[in-house]
Amino acid sequence: MKTKSKFYITTPLYYVNASPHIGHSYTQIAVDTISRFHRILGDDVFFMTGTDEHGEKIEKAALEDGFKEGEEKRFTDKIVPNFKRLWKDLNIEYDFFIRTTDSYHEKTVKYILDILHKNKDIYKGEYDGWFCVPCETFWTHTQVAGDICPDCKRPLDKIKEANYFFKMSKYQKWLIAHIEKNPNFIMPDYRKNEVLSFLKNHRLNDLCVSRSKSRFKWGIELPFDKEYVTYVWVDALINYVSGPGLLRDKGKFERYWPADLHIIGKDILRHHAVYWPILLYAAGIEPPRAIFAHGWWTTKGEKISKSKRNIVDPYYIIEKYGVDAYRYFLLRDIPFGLDGNFSEEAVVNRFNSDLANDLGNLLNRTLTMVEKYFGGKAPEHREQSTEYRKKVEMLAGKIRESMAALNFSDTLNAIWEFINRANKSIEETAPWKLAKEKKTTELAQFIYGLLDILRIVAISIYPFMPGSAENMWGQLGLKGFKNIKFKDVRDVGAIALGTRIKKSAPLFPRIKR
Ligand code: MSP
Repeated sequence: MKTKSKFYITTPLYYVNASPHIGHSYTQIAVDTISRFHRILGDDVFFMTGTDEHGEKIEKAALEDGFKEGEEKRFTDKIVPNFKRLWKDLNIEYDFFIRTTDSYHEKTVKYILDILHKNKDIYKGEYDGWFCVPCETFWTHTQVAGDICPDCKRPLDKIKEANYFFKMSKYQKWLIAHIEKNPNFIMPDYRKNEVLSFLKNHRLNDLCVSRSKSRFKWGIELPFDKEYVTYVWVDALINYVSGPGLLRDKGKFERYWPADLHIIGKDILRHHAVYWPILLYAAGIEPPRAIFAHGWWTTKGEKISKSKRNIVDPYYIIEKYGVDAYRYFLLRDIPFGLDGNFSEEAVVNRFNSDLANDLGNLLNRTLTMVEKYFGGKAPEHREQSTEYRKKVEMLAGKIRESMAALNFSDTLNAIWEFINRANKSIEETAPWKLAKEKKTTELAQFIYGLLDILRIVAISIYPFMPGSAENMWGQLGLKGFKNIKFKDVRDVGAIALGTRIKKSAPLFPRIKR
């Protein structure tokens, strides 16, 4: 028997200073969709997500929430369930949830820092520059004009004190060569070019990897100096190896590492595409295989974020339009990689046109005809035409290809072309006329064809809208949804003669405005 190929995919770890918003849910839904697709391809998927809980930003949030110094973990314990609840409500099927406060993670961070320190890649020096707490980012004097963060435009803290540094620039040449040798290491291409041109034109600064306890203590203590905690980005990145078990489960770690895909937002590309591979390489661990940076959801041209006070709460949308409409909208409307403007009106438009009108109608009309003409049972039919089989093959090929490129909008376009061809064929064939003229064989052949199309559509939309796919499967009277495989798409004629359909309420009832 062919052994399953492994597929290890991650989301970033979300900061727990506030509840999750649309931006976080975007990364999460994208990763869920990719991993569901890999599961139905038959891969052994390991999908890991979690929370980033240390650092000055979280400490501040804890204090603002009325907790005292030393009680930060209690604050994070209070927030983490909000993330878990939303992931459950968005139908996110992850395999493992990591918290950077988990003890095995803390041990792994210390273990890696120790290696880097013993190898003399970490040295003590003086940090003289700026720090942005909301971004958890160091800035040098030359990068900053005034005392404002170049990224988020909020006030910076000035820092002049002894700290520990990692020799980033020592590995710059290696990283350039690595990116050039592995064309898919950073995706999309325009992001890769951005990183490469930066690396070729600037000498990397050594990375400050510590924060002095004289400022705050909420972090993982450096294994070689009790006066400092680890810089939160170094702590958080290490989750990708501590989660699958670098220290506590060698077998599992060797099975899944290197990660096949880190999905991140473009704001954290440098941390993932520069710091992370270099830290790993310096510690003697293989780098991840690929990193994909997606764009931002914006309103009025501004990134949606807590600090901009323009948050879109996922619950607002899912309570009004349903989880699957939300998942569908996010992945359909904007090519993955680019920024997109969010508006409720755009959600409603997509809902009414694609979901209610195209997909919902096809299902509803077809099942109504099965009831009306064939007593609610899949009718007798001949082999489907070669032309139809070819179209199915083409659809399957197109889905595989665009999913491999993480091009969700193209994948959905291809599925919707298939749906709309079926809708058009109903108009052209006019089955009601065939019924009137008592052309039962022809009618049965046509209606069975529509059922087969709906079966294929249910499998194809599964990674995007798992709940609706299952609902369709049930309405078609099919069993074994838990075991569907993508290859079943090609199984034309799989619905047994006489299968009793179970028509129920419309999947996507049209929204009135
Ligand atoms: N904690 C770090 C990641 C550490 S990973 C080792 C972090 N957390 S975050 O909570 O600020 O952001 C997590 C993810 O949400 C990022 O991928 C970010 O790009 C994404 N988004 C946050 N706001 C967003 C939008 N408005 N639009 C799309 N995604 C954005 O960074």
